[in-house]
Amino acid sequence: MKPVPTLEWLDDRILLLDQRLLPAEEVYFECKSIQELAHAIKTLAVRGAPAIGIAAAYGAVIAALETAESDSFINQCCGKLDILAATRPTAVNLFHCLDIQRSILQSSPSRTVAITRLLESAHKLYEEDLEASRIMGRLGADLLPENCTILTHCNAGGLATAGLGTALSVIYEAHSRGILAEVYADETRPLLQGARLTAWELHKAGIPVKVLPDSAAASLLQTGVIDAVITGADRIALNGDSANKIGTYSLALAAHEARVPFYIVAPVSTFDLKSPDGSCIEIEERGREELAVLGNLKIIPDGVSVYNPAFDVTPVKFITSIICEMGVISSPSDIDW
Ligand code: MRU
Repeated sequence: MKPVPTLEWLDDRILLLDQRLLPAEEVYFECKSIQELAHAIKTLAVRGAPAIGIAAAYGAVIAALETAESDSFINQCCGKLDILAATRPTAVNLFHCLDIQRSILQSSPSRTVAITRLLESAHKLYEEDLEASRIMGRLGADLLPENCTILTHCNAGGLATAGLGTALSVIYEAHSRGILAEVYADETRPLLQGARLTAWELHKAGIPVKVLPDSAAASLLQTGVIDAVITGADRIALNGDSANKIGTYSLALAAHEARVPFYIVAPVSTFDLKSPDGSCIEIEERGREELAVLGNLKIIPDGVSVYNPAFDVTPVKFITSIICEMGVISSPSDIDW
């Protein structure tokens, strides 16, 4: 499987596939400044926990280039990293990558060395994510039966990572082994990552995919057509409680009721060992307009407010297994860190 071209480093800037425009247009744009990158992350031009982290890791190089001439290089540069850290609160990969870059910055003997090391580190994070995806794909596919039909939610594909995906890396591997019949993708209201992005990348890869409204998932699971539900995650607490796109918890409940296995696929960079359980995970709340406007159509009356959390937390008791590059586990606490 060839990685999806989600993001690429070019000399002094990041090239991003604009995910806000998919599937209507495949447009790339360049981020040359921290302001541009922060805006791209906030508005979901680049999105998905691992991809946000990697974009921010390259962002640290841009931050260092932007502040290289300043009197207090480290302070100024850390200030730019804080701007990136303030973009989206739930995906822990963002903080994981920024912490790595911050410590490189603080331990480098000179500005030039810092820039070189930050870039090497961003490339390494990118390559590690690709390699984790390959391993998770194989481990996940080992759990699936012949001729399987999979239900997924949001986009946990190449678009959400360095290019192979988490949940979708399992689907790509199952397809290449010839054991995959079909994928059902929840449309994923309100920003439609399932309909716009998962359907786009699976269709492009020649994998049969059907989109369903989120509200049809429970009844689909009751029909017995689905062999496994597979999703990614944005942050996994030490006990295994997992935050992922809003609607994942409902899906896990429905899968539990229908006795269908529910797998989370996520690299260890998505583990938050400092959060003992899901109650510690901050859930991003997004704006009213994402719910109130559909295209050019106003669909909620003026003056009516909304509840628009971007993520929910699935309690570990509803998760059959977590598939990470270190193995198939029940929770991060299984691993001897
Ligand atoms: O708001 P998004 O599109 O960034 O949300 C993405 C998800 O919820 C994904 O499922 C998650 O990041 C895992 S991606 C490999």
